Amino acid sequence: MNKIWIGTNWKMTKTIEEGLSYTEDLKKIAENVSSAIELFIIPSYTALVSIKELTSSSRIHLGAQNMHWEDSGPYTGEISPRMLDEIGIDIIELGHSERRQYYNENDEDINKKVLAALRYGMKPLICIGENIEHKSNNISKETLASQLKVCLKGLTDEQARNVMIAYEPVWAIGEKGVPADAGYVAEIHTYLRKTLENLFDHSGSSIPLLYGGSVNRENFLNYIDITDVNGLFIGRSAWDTDSFREILERLEKHLYG
Ligand code: 13P
Repeated sequence: MNKIWIGTNWKMTKTIEEGLSYTEDLKKIAENVSSAIELFIIPSYTALVSIKELTSSSRIHLGAQNMHWEDSGPYTGEISPRMLDEIGIDIIELGHSERRQYYNENDEDINKKVLAALRYGMKPLICIGENIEHKSNNISKETLASQLKVCLKGLTDEQARNVMIAYEPVWAIGEKGVPADAGYVAEIHTYLRKTLENLFDHSGSSIPLLYGGSVNRENFLNYIDITDVNGLFIGRSAWDTDSFREILERLEKHLYG
């Protein structure tokens, strides 16, 4: 797998105006980024339409942070695949730990959303991760296998080619997060790759496996060098374009000289 996916989830941070200014900057930065690096940003819903106007003339993929599985219906406050498809969204982030934690989203819901996104030709970016209790009870792998199996239930080999997985240990995410040890990430990614290969006959080895959780300017190279890490999913360290630029420039130099 040659492509590297690097992207950021803005969570609930930027207004439309802030998002537009960020995207203008990132478009300029993207001009110097190798085509082997696939860049993506995942803004808040309110900014998607305006930002799409900027990203459509660039190679930056645009994602949404969540989605309902039904096309339409009495689901107040929800956004459907039909609505996101109308904007021209490429990536649907699903099952982020903050959605699981604060909005009780579970693997069954995520599975319905994955299938809905695929029906519309949008790429699900499925977030999985164990919490600190799973880790201390030594059941991280079992937890992750169960998340993968349920989230990917019913997908054909062909459909599996269009998904991406982000492994984000819950204990590593956000202000209180502790960056994971690269050796631990390597062990988990090897395990996730094997699990995907067991689930799908031919596509398991081609599903991009991204790593996320307190990835920053100091540690990102440790993760990107891991064999089964095919990209990075970054929060805080990519919300400022100067910081994101530094990561991209150093990554480019590290990978392509
Ligand atoms: P941080 O990089 O801020 O820990 O956030 C990671 C994340 O949640 C990406 O989805």
